[in-house]
Amino acid sequence: VKKSTGRESQQTSSRELLLDLAGAPKGQLGSTLQWHLRHAIRSGRLRAQASLPSTRALAADLGVSRSVVVQAYEQLAAEGYLITRQGAAARVAAIQPPADAGQARPPAPPPPDRAVVDFRPGTADLGSFPRADWERAYRRALVALPNRELGYGDSRGLARLREGLADYLGRVRGAVVDPEHLIVVNGFAQALVVVARLFRALGIAEVGVEDPGSFHTEAQLAAHDLATVGVPVDRHGVDAAALTSRPGPPVRAVLATPAHQFPTGVVLSAERRRQLLAWVERVDGYLIEDDYDAEYRYDHQPVATVQGLAPGRVLLGGSISKTLAPALRLGWLAVPPPLAQEAARRKRELDLMSPVLEQATLAELLASGAYERHIRRNRARYRRRRDQLQELLAGLLPQTRVAGAAAGLHLLLDLPAGADEAAVIARAARRGLRLTGLGSYRHAPGPPGLVLAYAHLDQQQLRRGVGLLAEAIG
Ligand SMILES: Cc1ncc(COP(=O)(O)O)c(C=O)c1O
Repeated sequence: VKKSTGRESQQTSSRELLLDLAGAPKGQLGSTLQWHLRHAIRSGRLRAQASLPSTRALAADLGVSRSVVVQAYEQLAAEGYLITRQGAAARVAAIQPPADAGQARPPAPPPPDRAVVDFRPGTADLGSFPRADWERAYRRALVALPNRELGYGDSRGLARLREGLADYLGRVRGAVVDPEHLIVVNGFAQALVVVARLFRALGIAEVGVEDPGSFHTEAQLAAHDLATVGVPVDRHGVDAAALTSRPGPPVRAVLATPAHQFPTGVVLSAERRRQLLAWVERVDGYLIEDDYDAEYRYDHQPVATVQGLAPGRVLLGGSISKTLAPALRLGWLAVPPPLAQEAARRKRELDLMSPVLEQATLAELLASGAYERHIRRNRARYRRRRDQLQELLAGLLPQTRVAGAAAGLHLLLDLPAGADEAAVIARAARRGLRLTGLGSYRHAPGPPGLVLAYAHLDQQQLRRGVGLLAEAIG
């Protein structure tokens, strides 16, 4: 009978060590065990002087060969985490806790997503991605792709895609685009990087951004060394007059979403379009037109781009993130002719060119008409969802008001004056309802509101979501 000693009473089992190698691939049992032990020691879960189980006991516990445990102990002893002595249990060495002990812990597994309904804006209905169309187009594009197109090509992108896009933007968006002055980019996000680099070279260091406006696009500009200035948005859209009255050197560029302002949903009025272009001329500057969801207008034809009115003053960007999927990372940037060469050079500097097979597939989808058929199908689906949401809101929340045009993938819900937007969002979160407040898009304070995305939610989810929202608003 083995006599019990103080040391043995401190010994731990694999269960106490929270060791579980169940998911580890066979060839990585040793490294996984080492990783777990190292983290247990670093995080303080295994304290200095604690004895570890014998190699035989731990191996049996974990169902691995003893050599795996012997090697792990040896490795950790060599690294200074364990003290091993012939004939004695391995003990945990005293190590310096890292200065950022909290961060040194293994990343906690993300909490299970308990959102019942997620109204936050961001994507189209990913469930309606036309997989079969994309697969067919991809196969056709691959078969037809000449070998040379598998090499490095024109940084502006495949000529046939630029031609297809120029034609599409002309027909559908009233833009005036020459394929020579169009650059295929990795989403609008990259269009902004190209623009930022172009602007810096032109001596433009500051860009007006809509207030409220997309903090993602603003962050993108800021990350590439452009300062941003909030330009107020009202029910007619962005108001460039605010830039004229600003003291100091003139701002010479504005980033705006004229077709469907993000996030308020207003359409830039004809008068404001004129003002904006007059201002751009006066300061010898540029408008960056973000045409992010213009295909979706439900009451009548979408308004055409501002770019069509002044192709020499507007950099028009868009992407397929809202029509197909953000995962494809494909977009475009049409630039005024004098900037085209420089823009192509900036794109080359970034990543030489965008992925060619995806470009060829999109060209194929455009040429076959499948792209526009898909948009038509989704337009009908999104319109139905918007109508359902509006009806539910009118029924359950008559004290709120839907603002903006019948367009896009989200709507703005004005909350009653004096409502506490943050408190509503917090109460909703406790019920599993995810919301984004208008406040998170603002520079200057303003009335409370919620930005509700609906394109990705079916009727049942919309009903559930509005029910929870009504409880949260109270
Ligand atoms: C205002 C706005 N612009 C542009 C985009 C598209 O960005 P990207 O093409 O990089 O996916 C989004 C997407 O969420 C957006 O909300």
